[in-house]
Amino acid sequence: MKDKIALVTGAATGIGAEVCRALATEGAAVAVCDINADAGLALAKEIGGEFISCDVTSSERVEAAVARCVKSLGVPTYAHLNAGIMTVPTGSDFLAIEDVSLMQYRKIVGVNLDGMYHGLRALLPLMRDGGGAITLTASTAGVSTLSIDPMYAATKHAIIGLGRAVAAANTENDVRINVICPGVVDTGIVPDAFKAREFGMMPASVMAAEVVDLLTTGANGEVRIKNAADVAGFAIPAQSETF
Ligand code: NAI
Repeated sequence: MKDKIALVTGAATGIGAEVCRALATEGAAVAVCDINADAGLALAKEIGGEFISCDVTSSERVEAAVARCVKSLGVPTYAHLNAGIMTVPTGSDFLAIEDVSLMQYRKIVGVNLDGMYHGLRALLPLMRDGGGAITLTASTAGVSTLSIDPMYAATKHAIIGLGRAVAAANTENDVRINVICPGVVDTGIVPDAFKAREFGMMPASVMAAEVVDLLTTGANGEVRIKNAADVAGFAIPAQSETF
């Protein structure tokens, strides 16, 4: 991966941060894109990458972040569109749809879905010449039921549909589009009630290895589901609901 450029959104913490570390370890120059400047700057310093302030809900800011990456590092070969939020607060274990305010609705759709649209629009035309790969972060909530946060589930279903359709539309190009669907991963987004061992939380590094594998060797249009049950030592009880 030496001399390759990688751009990651939602890169400052959690899964995105581990993906940045893994890509940098492999030799890539990494653009760490996030709204969290403190964590993003610290990570960029740690891995020798570049922090780029980027709110994925804004097309202008995503375009500016991609332009900044191109100017200072180059056109990315790999991109991980990963920024995402939940509607249910971490201190709660359930948010009924009738209690989701219009503002919360717009926010989660803005981050989780608009963010993917803005990223794909800004990156795909640029990446076609040199080829490469883009991985979108969905969730197992995109392929199963997540009663605690219906809007989160809705956006994650949509990401899978978007990724598969864009992959199918780009079979003639050298840019592969894939989707990762993590099960429960030990990061700040997970509601406290799901942090118990029986939910089989995986370390973010496990998911980062899957993302790097999809970026570097994945097919086109793959939707990869990675649950704790697939990871040695993280067997998940059958009755547990997963993200
Ligand atoms: P996290 O909260 O550590 O990471 C999310 C990152 O996105 C943060 O760095 C945050 O600052 C950033 N972000 C939030 N809003 C943003 C915006 N408007 N623009 C740019 N960046 C923004 O949580 P985690 O778990 O690492 O989440 C990463 C992705 O993985 C999300 O898409 C999440 O839905 C997905 N996921 C997480 C699972 C888990 O159990 N942790 C399970 C399945 C999917």
